[in-house]
Amino acid sequence: MKHTSISELFNHKENYLGKQVTVCGWVRTSRDSKNVAFVELNDGSTLTHIQVVFEKSEFGDSQLAPLLALGAAIKVEGKLVSGMKAESVEIAAKSATLLGASDPSYPMQKKRHTLEFLRTIPHLRVRTNTFNAMFRIRSELSYAIHSFFHENGFYYVHTPIITGSDCEGAGEIFKVTTVGYDPTVKSEEEYYRKDFFGCAAGLTVSGQLEGETMATALGKIYTFGPTFRAENSNTTRHAAEFWQIEPEVAFAELDDIIEIATDMIKYIVRYLLKSCAAELKFFEERFEAGLIAKLENVANSDFARVDYTSAIDLLKKSGKQFAYPVEWGCDLQTEHERYLTDEVFKKPVFVTDYPKEIKSFYMKLNPDNKTVAATDLLVPGVGEIIGCSERENDYDKLLKIIKERKMKIEDYEQYLDLRKFGSVPHSGFGLGLERMMMYVTGIGNIRDTIAYPRTVKNLNQNIYTIPKSFR
Ligand code: 4AD
Ligand code: MG
Repeated sequence: MKHTSISELFNHKENYLGKQVTVCGWVRTSRDSKNVAFVELNDGSTLTHIQVVFEKSEFGDSQLAPLLALGAAIKVEGKLVSGMKAESVEIAAKSATLLGASDPSYPMQKKRHTLEFLRTIPHLRVRTNTFNAMFRIRSELSYAIHSFFHENGFYYVHTPIITGSDCEGAGEIFKVTTVGYDPTVKSEEEYYRKDFFGCAAGLTVSGQLEGETMATALGKIYTFGPTFRAENSNTTRHAAEFWQIEPEVAFAELDDIIEIATDMIKYIVRYLLKSCAAELKFFEERFEAGLIAKLENVANSDFARVDYTSAIDLLKKSGKQFAYPVEWGCDLQTEHERYLTDEVFKKPVFVTDYPKEIKSFYMKLNPDNKTVAATDLLVPGVGEIIGCSERENDYDKLLKIIKERKMKIEDYEQYLDLRKFGSVPHSGFGLGLERMMMYVTGIGNIRDTIAYPRTVKNLNQNIYTIPKSFR
């Protein structure tokens, strides 16, 4: 279907003014007056709608009515002319085709809907300004991440989605099985023998372990794919399915990987400031005052760094009453992270050297034998967006911790092999794409950063039924 995108008309209006153009899109709003009717049309290429003007002398009422229906898909041919407002352009319609009529039950009528309501219609909410802008940013953000790694000599690798190991060791794996309920099965072993793979399998929580394999041959790699956690956390920042970017770098210690993480965040923020200026302005106006200044600051100033032990001191001296008491050895809760980011540092902060007991098995033990060479990047308003560490590359130390944590050695034989055959210092991190989306848009709920959010007790499976009150 030959047509010009609305963004092209706005961006290069000098090429089209006074000429016949064809546009396609969905009707966002419409207005009917005595001699003319107006439609605000959007095709997803830009936040700004193009106004289409229908002269009633040329279009009959019965032809016009379905073209004005909210949600209708139409194709319009006409002349691009200057609009009423300075710099604006509009289309004086000459002919129009109804591509897809919209039923009067279309749930997004003119009023502004709440994000909660829009979550119940994931198949339609993309047609609002908020979600249109959100998913354009998500696309640009993903592109920027790939560009950063590509420009810096990293290889994009694909790690398995179905796996037998629990990388984070937290037992938050979704099971993958083809065996249903079977009362004749006597034991777990028998169950798994019958199962598709002949053993227990699950959806990956992280591509890291396989990423390490690739890095210890290719040098610098990254993954960018879906990861899954059956975490029973019904919060605004946890999703059961989320996308993770996990670089893994051979010959890199903790400081090296912190530098890479910093460069990556600054690069992608700078990229968005350029490529999504209109969308970010929209989010600043609707969701977070000062958003653009915040992002400019991220792009142009250093991140803070504090070790866990000093962070605990800061929390203890804060004089705050935290719901979770603060003691050396405790895991940092959201309220603690928020205090550090929002009140103390007021910018992204790397918290380093956590107690080994609260972190994953693969992290390199520090010489103090108490802490590990790990860091989380915390940002104001969201909390942790990156989990990062240098990996334990000493065979004996790794074996010891696998045994201490009562993990099955046979599951980690290949991982241990990497420490037997040419082991090198290596480090990596995982950035949660949706958490990063929350940070760059100021949106308060992870459910609004991904097209089909999956959270505890909510699969929201293709809801094509619209709540009764909106019928
Ligand atoms: O800190 P995490 O658990 O680290 C890992 O998975 C490492 N294997 C990464 C690595 O070193 N290669 O998770 C990394 C990031 C978190 O900082 C957070 O941004 C995001 O993944 N994340 C989640 N995002 C949404 N919902 C959840 N349930 C998340 N769990 C982690
Ligand atoms: Mg983490």
